[in-house]
Order: sequence, then structure tokens, then C-alpha cells
Amino acid sequence: MESVKEKSSAILHIVYHALESSLNGILITNLKSRIVYANTSALNLLGYAKKKELVGHPVSSIFHQEPIQTLKDIYVILKSTEHKTLRLPLLTQQGKSVLVEMAVSNVYNKEKRIIGKMASILDLTANLALKKNLVKAESRIHHLSSKILETEEKQRKIMARELHDAVGSNLAAVKLALESRKEAFNDPSHAIPLSQIIHIIEKTMDEIHAISRNLSPAILDKLGLKKAIESLCREIARIHPSIRIDCTMDFHSQDIPEPLKIVLYRIIQEALNNAVKHSHGPHVQVMLKADDEGIDLEIADNGQGFDLTQAFADSGDPSRGLGLQSMQERTEWYGGHFEIFSEEHKGTRIRSVWPMKNESRPFP
Ligand SMILES: Nc1ncnc2c1ncn2[C@@H]1O[C@H](COP(=O)(O)OP(=O)(O)OP(=O)(O)O)[C@@H](O)[C@H]1O
Ligand SMILES: [Mg+2]
Repeated sequence: MESVKEKSSAILHIVYHALESSLNGILITNLKSRIVYANTSALNLLGYAKKKELVGHPVSSIFHQEPIQTLKDIYVILKSTEHKTLRLPLLTQQGKSVLVEMAVSNVYNKEKRIIGKMASILDLTANLALKKNLVKAESRIHHLSSKILETEEKQRKIMARELHDAVGSNLAAVKLALESRKEAFNDPSHAIPLSQIIHIIEKTMDEIHAISRNLSPAILDKLGLKKAIESLCREIARIHPSIRIDCTMDFHSQDIPEPLKIVLYRIIQEALNNAVKHSHGPHVQVMLKADDEGIDLEIADNGQGFDLTQAFADSGDPSRGLGLQSMQERTEWYGGHFEIFSEEHKGTRIRSVWPMKNESRPFP
């Protein structure tokens, strides 16, 4: 049978090892504020190599003597009779500061009398460094994302110019050449009449124009955002005469940063495409306004709506469309907030908002 003494000694052994192996630094002081125990984590945290360098010394050696606020904190720790948690810098043996969170509690004897204090110390500098790195990484990703967008737009611009200048001009030249030789080709023995060939070329030129315009809205540079949006709405309404597109715009060009203009144009383009492709509603409303409070863009249709949870559920499905995701990413890359509302038989509303008041990151 184990004696009471043996049992107590076993428990003491366990408690001692629990304190020793704790990842938090543990310090115990007596009532004269001298350190009577320090575990390995406490030594590491405070830069001491040996226990005797800390144990037996006054606890004040690990506190900064200034500023006033720190002294007040120390006073609170030493005088408190209850449990306290404080965040404060401690002094290492090398004279450096280490920010910690310190939970202080009383140590009692068998008669339930306070005989000292125990401090459990958590090193916050590691957490802070981690947080700083995370913020840095986030801002790097944000920067990279906008760079990717920019490069993508540049690439599109080049392709659009190539299509327009090279392919488009060549076709125009062929068309002209054919037209000038109309008489020679008017022989009825020709399998395809010349007018038909010219018609095919005209159609191809129209298509190239549309592709090139889609790739890069050159009109945006030429006429500015307002006219470019109006022209986009007109063009889509022309192709889909059963749909009415209303455009309400209230902004001055200088209120919208240049890189955001292409973002706005792309979002409107995709939202309008979605509305005509999926909503089957007769009416779409585009609203863009910018003032001191920020920029607010809304595209709403009164079509059939759709199930949002389902549309966002299969993110791994390769057949899933990219439009909604791309609108959201474009908005957020430029520091905005994206919302989408949809209700069956009522319609869909896309909203992108860039608040100006957000001074931490108004725009890139
Ligand atoms: N205005 C809308 N009205 C009704 N359904 C919509 C509307 N917008 C989107 N949807 C639904 O959400 C789905 C996802 O839209 P998204 O734009 O991401 O892809 P997509 O239009 O199908 O393809 P992509 O845009 O890549 O060409 C659509 O397939 C459609 O079912
Ligand atoms: Mg789409």
C-alpha cells in the first residue's frame, strides 16, 4: 500500500514537472517579492541561462523601471490579492524588452494563507511578428493581384490592337480590292456572287470589331468612362432589342481613380452579359455614382433570379462560370466590397462599393 507521504510526493513530482514543461514562463515569488521558482520557459523568455541567475533575486529585476505606466502595472501585480492579467514589456538579462501577457495569481499555504505570487507569462512578440508577417503577406498578395489584373488588361489591349490593326485592316483592304473589281467578277459562272463574298467580309469585320472592343474597351481611353458605359448599354440593347437597359450615372471623371475605371467597366460588362444571358427579364438598371463617401455601382435586373447558395457551392466544378467570381475578385482587389442579391422571379442585383472614408486603404 502506498503511504500518504509517498502519494503526496508523487503528486508533487507531477506538479513540478508540469510547471517545468509548461510552454508559458512560470515565476513564483515570496511575499518579499523575491523569485523562488522559475521554469525553463521563463528563463528562455527572459534570456537567462541558469536558474540561479534569476532565483533568489528580486522580481523587480525583470521589470522596466520606467515609464510611469509600467511602474503602476508592477504595483498592481505586487499588491493585488486576486487574479490579474496584464500586458506589459519585461526586461531580459540582456536589457532588451519583451512584450508579454502575464496572468498573476496568489500562492497559498496549507492554512490558506497567501505566501507569494505566481505569474504565468506568455510571450507576445512571436504572435506580433507572425501578425506583422501576415499583414505584409496580405498586402503583397493584394499588390500582386492588382499587377496581374493590370498585366492582363495590357495584354488584352495588345491583342485588341493587333486584331483591329492587322486582321481588320487586311480585311478592309481585301473588301476594297474586291469592290473595285466588281465588274470583272460579275460573270454569272462564278459559284459565289461577289456581293455575297463582300457581305461575309463585312460580317467578319463586324465580329472582329466586337471582339476587339470586348478585349479592350479603347473607347474608355478615347471618350471616358461615362460615354463608354452608355455605348456598352446601347450596344447590348441593340443586339437584344427585347431588353430595356437604363443607365443612371452621377459622378465626375476625376472622382474615380484611373485603374478603377476599367474595373467598373468590366463589372458592368459582365453583369449586363449575365442579365441578358440568364435573367430573361425585360429590364436592366445600371446605376453608378461617386461622391465624397465613395463609389457605388449597382446593376439590377427584374428577371428570374437564381439560387445563390447553389451558384457558389461547387467552387471546384470546372464547368462553373467565372463571371460572378471575377466581379467579386476585381471589386475586392481594389479595396471594395461586393454584394449580390437574387430572388426567384424577382431578379438579381449586383453591388460593388468602394468607400472613400476607409482611410487605411481607400484605393491602390
Ligand atoms: N442576372 C442573372 N440572372 C439569373 N441568373 C444568373 C444571373 N447572373 C448569374 N446567374 C446564374 O449564376 C451562374 C453563374 O454566373 P457566372 O457569370 O459566374 O457564370 P456564367 O455566366 O454561367 O459563365 P461565364 O460568366 O464564365 O461566361 C449562371 O450560370 C446563372 O445560372
Ligand atoms: Mg457570366
